[in-house]
Amino acid sequence: MEQFNFETKIQKILSFENLSKQLEEAANLIKNDEILAFPTETVYGLGANALSEVAVKKIFKAKGRPVDNPIIIHVSSVEMFEQLIDKEYFDYRIKKLQESFWPGPLTLIIKKSKIVPYVTTGGLETVAIRMPSNPIALALIQTSGLPIAAPSANLSGKPSPTTANDVYEDMNKRIALIIDGGSTEIGLESTVLDISDPKSIPIILRPGKITKKQLADCLSTQINIFDSTKIKENEIQKNLKSPGMKYRHYAPKADVIIVSSFDDFLKSYKEVSINNVHVGVMLDKNLIGKLNTSEIHFNDSFLFMYTDNEDLGANLYLKLREMDNLGVNLIIIQFDDFNDPTGFGLAIKNRLQKASSKK
Ligand code: TXA
Ligand code: MG
Repeated sequence: MEQFNFETKIQKILSFENLSKQLEEAANLIKNDEILAFPTETVYGLGANALSEVAVKKIFKAKGRPVDNPIIIHVSSVEMFEQLIDKEYFDYRIKKLQESFWPGPLTLIIKKSKIVPYVTTGGLETVAIRMPSNPIALALIQTSGLPIAAPSANLSGKPSPTTANDVYEDMNKRIALIIDGGSTEIGLESTVLDISDPKSIPIILRPGKITKKQLADCLSTQINIFDSTKIKENEIQKNLKSPGMKYRHYAPKADVIIVSSFDDFLKSYKEVSINNVHVGVMLDKNLIGKLNTSEIHFNDSFLFMYTDNEDLGANLYLKLREMDNLGVNLIIIQFDDFNDPTGFGLAIKNRLQKASSKK
């Protein structure tokens, strides 16, 4: 991979006052077909002018991303959104969803207009669009006056970055600038909803913070969830609605084991700890009583106890990266989606499955 011979600059944003002034240099980079990393409410994005083939190609190069994996376009207004879609396919459902969930972590897949280059959509006729709620992201789009194409700012195959430091780890010398807006709030990528056919039931291609129930309540209709595990291996390529799904994602270097109960956790832990491997552990804090009486003693830096799904979602990628950096060989994650199987719990489960799959 080609690298710059200069360090990537990190610009810390300490106050939301005068954001457009603070983001002038960043906006100029976008206008000049350069790429940079910026925070959103979900994860950090690696952004470029979505309408410039030259600029978007730089994203694919910096990430090592397969060229058929399309990129989400970020907008700051409905007017900007309208330029990007084929108006014939616009229906009242899209308007309702935007009114309820934008700005926020919901990406809509719609038929694209002519101005969106195929480089951005990975050759598809549809385009993925969202309006982020993070004030820095919004101000960056507004100040540059351009829709910004941005995948997560990690190297392809690594967990998405949720801090500027994680972006730096992957992108130093590959991009000119990282805008540091602190830790991202949600920590998992946006919900992706395919609503490109006005006659069909919308399908969640990637679960996220906006849940199936929220979408169904908003539209008063059924919402389907795309399940790639139901497709046979040899049919995957042609059937996948979202090309990104065929690539291994969100994965740390360490092996990851998912267990649902404390007893299963203990069993797995005892099995593996005999072999002198460094084991990282993520556990529900409500189980701390059981842990204290279990005769297991952890190295604290290898242990993450989460308080609830929001806490696990916000810290999952951060902890996976931290444990990788500590040289952990195996990570056991205890997670039970019993109370929340179609809500945010579904998004967590989806990312855990990807982190633990070797494909
Ligand atoms: O929260 C997020 O969505 C973050 C932040 C930066 O906004 N972005 C993000 O982008 O996660 P990325 O590129 O890592 O994931 C985009 C997903 C991929 O799985 C991709 O295949 C899918 O959206 N996608 C994009 N355009 C699509 C399209 N036209 N049809 C189907 N899937 C699409
Ligand atoms: Mg990604």
